[in-house]
Amino acid sequence: MLINLLSNGVAWTLLAVAAAVYHLSQRRRPIFPVVNDYPWDFFRRKAYLAYNQNAGTLITQGLAKHRGPITMLVPGGTKIVLPSSLSDWIRTNKDLDHQELIREEYFAHLPGFESQHTLHSPDRMLIDLLRTKLTQNEKIVPAVNRHVDLALQHHWGDSKLWETIDWEKDTTGVISWAAASVFVGPEKATDAEWQEVVQSYVREYFAAVSELHTWKALLRPIVQWLLPHTSACRDLMRRARTIMQEVVQKRTSEAEAARAQGLEAPLYHDTVAWTKQVPGNTHPAGDVQLALAMAALFTTTELFRQILIDIANNPQLVEPLRQEIRTSLSENGLGLAALAKMELLDSVMKESQRQIPISVGLERKVIRETFLPDGTKLPKGSHVMVDSSDMWNPAVHEKPELYDGYRFIKRRQAGDKASQFVQSSREHNIFGGGRHICPGRFFANTELKLCLAHILLKFDLRLPPGYQAVPVRFGVYAGVDPNVRLEIRRREEPECIL
Ligand code: HEM
Repeated sequence: MLINLLSNGVAWTLLAVAAAVYHLSQRRRPIFPVVNDYPWDFFRRKAYLAYNQNAGTLITQGLAKHRGPITMLVPGGTKIVLPSSLSDWIRTNKDLDHQELIREEYFAHLPGFESQHTLHSPDRMLIDLLRTKLTQNEKIVPAVNRHVDLALQHHWGDSKLWETIDWEKDTTGVISWAAASVFVGPEKATDAEWQEVVQSYVREYFAAVSELHTWKALLRPIVQWLLPHTSACRDLMRRARTIMQEVVQKRTSEAEAARAQGLEAPLYHDTVAWTKQVPGNTHPAGDVQLALAMAALFTTTELFRQILIDIANNPQLVEPLRQEIRTSLSENGLGLAALAKMELLDSVMKESQRQIPISVGLERKVIRETFLPDGTKLPKGSHVMVDSSDMWNPAVHEKPELYDGYRFIKRRQAGDKASQFVQSSREHNIFGGGRHICPGRFFANTELKLCLAHILLKFDLRLPPGYQAVPVRFGVYAGVDPNVRLEIRRREEPECIL
């Protein structure tokens, strides 16, 4: 009887339909109106296309239409988008967590992805380290400065004729060398093999995450062993661990040899040394390095690229910026005080952040059932984020569609308390907020200002005439135009005050 039934095609079809209906009925019903739900779109093809191409508009129009939170269908699930008026509620709510969201969405449990576990580990080892040792640390400035100089010589060269840089490689290289001076320290910062491992890992990691999101959750534990990017991550993770083990061993032997001669062990101002001092640290040095690269490299390089585009497009900014850099350095010497005085540069950097239109901020996972101020329940497990469109809102910014390098310095001079690059606010939340606010933002500030000070004093920049850079969009995220052909040349009389 059962055999007869199973060999019957109609019975199979009914069974499949029943399973599909059951599956759909088990999906959590969205609490808020769905902005990309279309009739007959059973496989959500139209919904995901709309999300990928138009997330920003869906959010702005959805929030305006429904006058409250909305739901968006995204590949692999749903996201709740809250209006920016609920920013402070998100920032301060202890039932919401950033780290758990990232561990889940970026597959921190997979082999080869251990760096993500280290970065967002519940022990907060690395986050605390960044907050206490890296933030506003005067001692790191000389090393970053030296490595920016070396990186520009290596990647941008000495030619006094116009040359086009390799947009991806020669921008990533500068930021990566500068960061490595404090992350890995002097032994490996400019080492070609190490740089290749770190930069490739970041590339492969993000490619692997995108690749895995195209697979059903059930199949990921299997396919991750076969996919090219996940395999590359495992290989690079092994290489990083081996190289870093050697660095740690070399430093230990060096310290022992010094002590044996009654001398002080050499002092290092980098994350390798700081991590060694953390009692009970369980994260291998290689994992720590790749974790740092993952958090710091792509984010900072993207902004670096956007600032270069904006400076090249606004040549009227160059001389005032040069003048500000000269004055700050001559009055304060090289250090954090001089960088803090570069207020126009600070404003230019913040204005450039506005040009990469990320549609949301403050992404969180609900780790315990929680309630919005109006009493609406958000179930455990939901993902929430807040609308970022205030960055382009005419009620917040005059002529928001224009690039104005002076925008934030003018606000600052008018008494606004949140217009500095490192500050986060409801209207400009690119570094997040609350207890998860980016702990690397002060370092990004130091690194970018040093890179830009060197570049402005030593190079001329230009884009091909009429070139309009166009950011690329991936759903709620955005990236800098990947096709830019930035031309550079050493200045006839470079100013060697750095
Ligand atoms: C322009 C560059 C950067 C941008 C735009 C950026 C942006 C962000 C954002 C949006 C968050 C989430 C904050 C939240 O949701 O409240 C974050 C977290 C984080 N960032 Fe950055 N970041 C940058 C550079 C860096 C650098 C240079 C480092 C390391 C030196 C770093 C380390 C981290 C870490 C460890 C977290 C996790 C914090 C936590 O979960 O508590 N970031 N960053």
